[in-house]
Amino acid sequence: MLKHLAVFLPLVIVGVGAEFVVLGRRDNPPPGFSLVGPTSGEEILSLRFALPSSDIPGLHETVYDISTPGSPRYGQYLTQEEVAQFVAPSAETVSQVNAWLGASNLTSSPITSAGDWVSVNMTVDQANALLAADFSTFQNDKTNQKIVRTLSYSIPSALKASVDWVHPTINFPETKTSSFPSFVNKTSSAAPRIPPAPTSVTVSPDCRTNSSWNPACLQQLYGIPTNPVNANPAANAVFGVSGFSNDFANKRDLKAFLEVYRPDMNPNRTFDFISIDGGINNQLPAGAGLDANPNTQYATALTNGDVHVTFISTGTLPNDPLTELLDQANYLASLKNPPQTILNTVTGLESEVSAQMATSICNAYAQLAARGVSYIVQTGIWGAGGIPFLPDCKPFDPPFPATCPFVTAVGATQFETEDTAETASEFSGGGFSSFFTRPRYQDAAVSTYLKATNNTHNAAFNVSGRAVPDVSAIQFLDWILDNQIIDFLESTSASAAIFSSMVALLTNERIAAGKPGIGFINPLLYANPGAFNDMKTGNNPGCNTPGFNSSSGWDPVTGFGSPSFPRLQQVCRSL
Ligand SMILES: *[C@@H]1O[C@H](CO)[C@@H](O)[C@H](O)[C@H]1NC(C)=O
Ligand SMILES: *[C@@H]1O[C@H](CO)[C@@H](O)[C@H](O)[C@H]1NC(C)=O
Ligand SMILES: *[C@@H]1O[C@H](CO)[C@@H](O)[C@H](O)[C@H]1NC(C)=O
Ligand SMILES: *[C@@H]1O[C@H](CO)[C@@H](O)[C@H](O)[C@H]1NC(C)=O
Ligand SMILES: *[C@@H]1O[C@H](CO)[C@@H](O)[C@H](O)[C@H]1NC(C)=O
Ligand SMILES: *[C@@H]1O[C@H](CO)[C@@H](O)[C@H](O)[C@H]1NC(C)=O
Ligand SMILES: *[C@@H]1O[C@H](CO)[C@@H](O)[C@H](O)[C@H]1NC(C)=O
Ligand SMILES: *[C@@H]1O[C@H](CO)[C@@H](O)[C@H](O)[C@H]1NC(C)=O
Repeated sequence: MLKHLAVFLPLVIVGVGAEFVVLGRRDNPPPGFSLVGPTSGEEILSLRFALPSSDIPGLHETVYDISTPGSPRYGQYLTQEEVAQFVAPSAETVSQVNAWLGASNLTSSPITSAGDWVSVNMTVDQANALLAADFSTFQNDKTNQKIVRTLSYSIPSALKASVDWVHPTINFPETKTSSFPSFVNKTSSAAPRIPPAPTSVTVSPDCRTNSSWNPACLQQLYGIPTNPVNANPAANAVFGVSGFSNDFANKRDLKAFLEVYRPDMNPNRTFDFISIDGGINNQLPAGAGLDANPNTQYATALTNGDVHVTFISTGTLPNDPLTELLDQANYLASLKNPPQTILNTVTGLESEVSAQMATSICNAYAQLAARGVSYIVQTGIWGAGGIPFLPDCKPFDPPFPATCPFVTAVGATQFETEDTAETASEFSGGGFSSFFTRPRYQDAAVSTYLKATNNTHNAAFNVSGRAVPDVSAIQFLDWILDNQIIDFLESTSASAAIFSSMVALLTNERIAAGKPGIGFINPLLYANPGAFNDMKTGNNPGCNTPGFNSSSGWDPVTGFGSPSFPRLQQVCRSL
């Protein structure tokens, strides 16, 4: 017996193949990457281990319970400790993993407050032995950027139930796109046209040209209040605006913007700052980002100085936006008091994300939802999904992270002429997830749409998937770039910036009244379609097809349509 053990134990520790189970593998690097050669055995890798949570289905159920108006638990958001009870791995898992790492003289440190992610630094030699892997150097053929990855990794079979996945291993960064650029850009230093003050429900024709959407026009269009409404300034809500991949918010530009577009506000009003992964906020003119700069300008101007805007900068990992998204979500979910409203306009396509990565990111968003956070994203500019110039984009390739059921996905609208009503934008991203099943809050609305289309094109998408967008808004914004230059942006990130500013105002009003904030807003939206201006015409071509049709009620082009602030406010006040 003793003799037998003595022979058996070292086998487990040094890791002979038979004792291992493959946790992830791919045949080749993805297109756009090629193998350079072996990596030095001494190079240090910082690997993240996802440990199985105790009860993710229970977390999801709880989110729906506390976010659905009419539920007895509506608004009873969870504390960090309460979320940890669903998310933390079991004590047995933790001790097994620590014993395994300890046998190789490695120690882990938790990344999240619940301990479902841990990080371990080790050399390439150690990683190859620990994970029966072959970490090598690959390069992005376009940028020549080098990264270390393996095509396969394993763990001892005894630990199969104790580790979900390890990152970075077989997941490569995206090459097709990370963040959609704005695709129209007219720069002018001409004086901006300030539209007349709102007088009625009609919108000034001056606003309806694509190039003059500014705060005053948006206040008219959606009935957004122009004055602070907060009676209790000490209780101000926090509105987080995200920046990734060297996309920064410029303070001098914000000041110039307020001077031009909100002369009634103190132009010295600025934003707070949260840094994740060493993120900075570079104030050089060249650092002013296409997302972060207009987004902070609108977040500040549309919330009337009534809400604390906070710029959240995540960086600067080597061109790896998905890891940045994961880190941001885990970091925010680990805060004692996360911002109640968060805007994130970075988006990609589901085909660029592994199912494990998408699920991990989405579960972190579910934790934020459980804490009472509204996380608001855009659906991108690629219509029904798929980059049209790629040869094969079928089935439709929907936008991620918009398809996560625990975020609010915002599509895009426009005015076709100065005399017509607001309508769907042909660029508005929309469709059905291949990763996430349809959440029940949208069951009735989406089934009604599918039935009305008589199942046309169903072969190109997964009818049972989470459908996006939820709502939509104007996709044009004037913004300030490089101090006094008025630039004009056409991008679906503008739509998300507008809607999230409205949610931040509504949350602020509730908090000031001593109530919980709006939290995860989707169940409320789907229960109150009347709070939106329905878009009934137009479609979103994509993937070399006409895409989906906009129609009466919810549709995968504009969701329920564009928001009416007074009607949403009425709903929120009644809760
Ligand atoms: C762990 O460290 C101890 C003491 O430094 C050393 O004797 C042992 O060989 C190491 N084990 C491994 C697997 O590296
Ligand atoms: C791993 O190394 C990085 C720097 O390379 C360091 O910032 C981090 O704290 C280390 N993590 C652990 C768990 O030691
Ligand atoms: C807009 O276009 C001009 C001229 O092509 C360019 O200099 C400027 O950097 C562009 N602005 C943005 C935000 O890309
Ligand atoms: C803004 O800051 C400047 C410079 O510190 C100061 O001169 C100005 O009075 C401030 N404006 C307001 C409205 O507080
Ligand atoms: C706004 O731009 C869209 C294209 O992005 C165009 O179809 C529409 O006609 C424009 N509307 C006006 C009023 O110029
Ligand atoms: C459709 O989506 C569901 C989950 O959303 C998934 O289980 C199923 O495999 C998907 N089907 C296809 C054909 O992609
Ligand atoms: C969209 O509408 C057009 C014209 O009415 C129709 O031919 C087409 O089949 C519709 N597409 C879908 C997906 O319903
Ligand atoms: C679906 O079928 C019904 C009944 O045949 C028809 O009235 C309707 O126009 C069809 N809708 C579409 C979008 O084709």
